[in-house]
Amino acid sequence: MMDEKLENVYSPDFFNKTGHELIDLLTNYLQQSGNQDIPVMNWNEPSEQYAFWKNFKPKNNDPIDLYKNIIDRSIHIHHPKYMGHQLCPPAPVAALTGLLGELINNGMAIYEMGAAGTAIERVIIELLAGKIGYDDNGDGYITSGGTIGNLTALLAARQNAVETDIWEDGIDESLGVMVSSEAHYSVDRALRIMGFGSKGIIKIPVDDNFCLDTSLLDDYYNEAEDKGIKVIAVVGSAPSTSTGMYDDLQTIADFCRNKDLWFHVDGAHGGGAIFSQKYRHLLKGVEHADSVVIDGHKMLMTPALLTFVMFKNKDVSYSTFNQKAQYLWEKSQDEEWFNLARRTIECTKLMMSIKFYSLLILYGEEIFDKSVTHLYNLGSMFAEKIRQRVNFELALEPHSNIVCFRYIIKNSTEREIDSINSSIRNNLLKKGDFYIVQTTLNKRVYLRTTIINPATNSKIFDELLDEIEKLSPDSIE
Ligand SMILES: Cc1ncc(COP(=O)(O)O)c(C=O)c1O
Repeated sequence: MMDEKLENVYSPDFFNKTGHELIDLLTNYLQQSGNQDIPVMNWNEPSEQYAFWKNFKPKNNDPIDLYKNIIDRSIHIHHPKYMGHQLCPPAPVAALTGLLGELINNGMAIYEMGAAGTAIERVIIELLAGKIGYDDNGDGYITSGGTIGNLTALLAARQNAVETDIWEDGIDESLGVMVSSEAHYSVDRALRIMGFGSKGIIKIPVDDNFCLDTSLLDDYYNEAEDKGIKVIAVVGSAPSTSTGMYDDLQTIADFCRNKDLWFHVDGAHGGGAIFSQKYRHLLKGVEHADSVVIDGHKMLMTPALLTFVMFKNKDVSYSTFNQKAQYLWEKSQDEEWFNLARRTIECTKLMMSIKFYSLLILYGEEIFDKSVTHLYNLGSMFAEKIRQRVNFELALEPHSNIVCFRYIIKNSTEREIDSINSSIRNNLLKKGDFYIVQTTLNKRVYLRTTIINPATNSKIFDELLDEIEKLSPDSIE
């Protein structure tokens, strides 16, 4: 006999009642966020937040009271004044599909533990490979986030660059990877995990546009080789995180071809532009990349996490966790495509594929074009508004939906301007009406926005700039 309490936990009736109430609550959240009836966030200091949850007891032991409090005390990504980090407001249908995946909880490591999800993953991967511009040999898989995606791809790059079997014998060679100084820290972190150390992470300075300065590739390559470091790969950012600027992938691809190097594209943020007819040109050259990482939870409307790791050559997608020789001997590894854990860091992994697939199957692939194109257009619109205001300075003409700028007061020193912008950002955070972040460019503080909610619009941009003017010290005085 099952314990009564345990039986209640698994009761379909409980699920049905609570599930309907939860959907009502979330519908209300979507409406209130969309209509701006609630702030983007209710700021609480970490210690207060901790104390609240430490002592929390839901009223009448009702899960809905728990859910309400979680929503109230979380940032509202669906709010059109959310313009902070690169996390999209997921399309509700993708979130609902996620709920399904969470409940049926298929593990995905081997085919029988995720039959539908695994086959669906293959369908999507074929679509992505075609969009990147790979031929039939292109392949890949889905993993949990761009950070793990970059690590997985770079592990494959390393195994393919050396003659030895790293998996069996480790590695003594001194290896290097060239990457822009503006690349996301996950690339640096992956290389350090892999034992490259500082000397093996060859940071190439950026040009005036904050893109990897390709004119320096030869010099840095030669310098590394002179020091006895074998360069194995170059990483292009598409785009880099702070500024949203795309590296010149075509030139990096040409360099890699000439030197016989692996070319990895970190397209975690903007790789999704492969779907955009208008902005696809930013990714020119991506089709030559040996590996590409693209996050669904940034530009492609899915809940976190969902990352595509794509390879130009099917065989190497098996080499991350395998000795090199194995895939050469055994030509038919691909017969194992349905046992995904052979290629991913995860053993058990979420049914991520079904979330992307729900959007694809219901709205067609043009929905991703619409989303990326609309958001990148909004980036240009916001930049134009910043340019029109005398007290604002645009950091760069944006390539994407990431826009950096600062408020300036005439005759102030750079240090004063830094502190004004930092205090504006802190005040915005505490007020909770808008959510934006800050970054440092050329050692100066800039306000940074990622326009990632399709409901953000021209009026909201004006309101944000007005609000910043109001919060500036000259208007407070
Ligand atoms: C360019 C780039 N690469 C990698 C990552 C890491 O991705 P994730 O947060 O999915 O691990 C980010 C995150 O912002 C990013 O912008």
